[in-house]
Amino acid sequence: MSATTADELREEVRRRYAESARAVSEGSRGSCGGGSCCDGESDAGKFGEALYDAEQRGELPEAATLASLGCGNPIMVADLNAGETVLDLGSGGGIDVILSANRVGESGLAYGLDMTDEMLALARRNAAEAGIENAIFLKGVIEEIPLPAASVDVVISNCVVNLATDKPAVLTEIARVLRPGGRIGISDVVAEDRLSPEERVARGSYVGCIAGALSKGEYEAGLAAVGFDEVSVTFTHEVADGLHGAIVKATKTTDPAERGLPLIQPAVRTGCC
Ligand SMILES: C[S@@+](CC[C@H](N)C(=O)[O-])C[C@H]1O[C@@H](n2cnc3c(N)ncnc32)[C@H](O)[C@@H]1O
Repeated sequence: MSATTADELREEVRRRYAESARAVSEGSRGSCGGGSCCDGESDAGKFGEALYDAEQRGELPEAATLASLGCGNPIMVADLNAGETVLDLGSGGGIDVILSANRVGESGLAYGLDMTDEMLALARRNAAEAGIENAIFLKGVIEEIPLPAASVDVVISNCVVNLATDKPAVLTEIARVLRPGGRIGISDVVAEDRLSPEERVARGSYVGCIAGALSKGEYEAGLAAVGFDEVSVTFTHEVADGLHGAIVKATKTTDPAERGLPLIQPAVRTGCC
């Protein structure tokens, strides 16, 4: 992908999700108005708040629930402990940061990272309304995480890696910010390996969280290449023909350079647009 195309695509993603945040701030559900986004309006139950149980929804302000645009529930798999530091990539309206902050408690810390000002403003309001004091929302892109190396115990994310224009950079950055032994619990849209990048594009839009999906094999190879072990990619529900909501888990055990692995595997680059 040329740099210009990647920049244009990222700007389109930012614009659509800013629109969604504005809709929630005005009291509507987090749809993207006239354009598609990762909200599954026509696919009830495959995206958004339906993926959270009643107890979790009870912890959240209404606007955080309305803003939910994920394709899974990373809190259910991340197995968070008191005192841990969690980072949510593409934190949107703050739903998973609020739930994480409650689980790690006052001795822990939950970071949310998002590139869209409107989402950050919404998330900060939601966290304040939920009475959360151990959360910090950062502005930035997940391809260049604004945190020091080895500063995080758990990286979570909900339907955002597929939107990133440079997947190898995202995986490399996740490995960098995690402490040795750190883990990931990521929900994302993931393609079956039989689908070529062109076939993924044919099944849905990029901003709609379909066209930019990595395949299962690309995810597994990409994570192994940056030093993860115990990698698993488990499909949970189909969102389009050959594309699934999936849970991605892995543990950072080694430095890829120590294992003589290449930092970036070419296959991962094909997983978008
Ligand atoms: C589909 S929404 C998911 C939001 C949230 N995780 C949830 O479950 O409701 C995608 C979010 O990721 C953000 N985003 C997309 N690409 C990003 C990138 N490259 N860097 C940082 N944030 C990004 C968008 O601004 C938006 O808030």
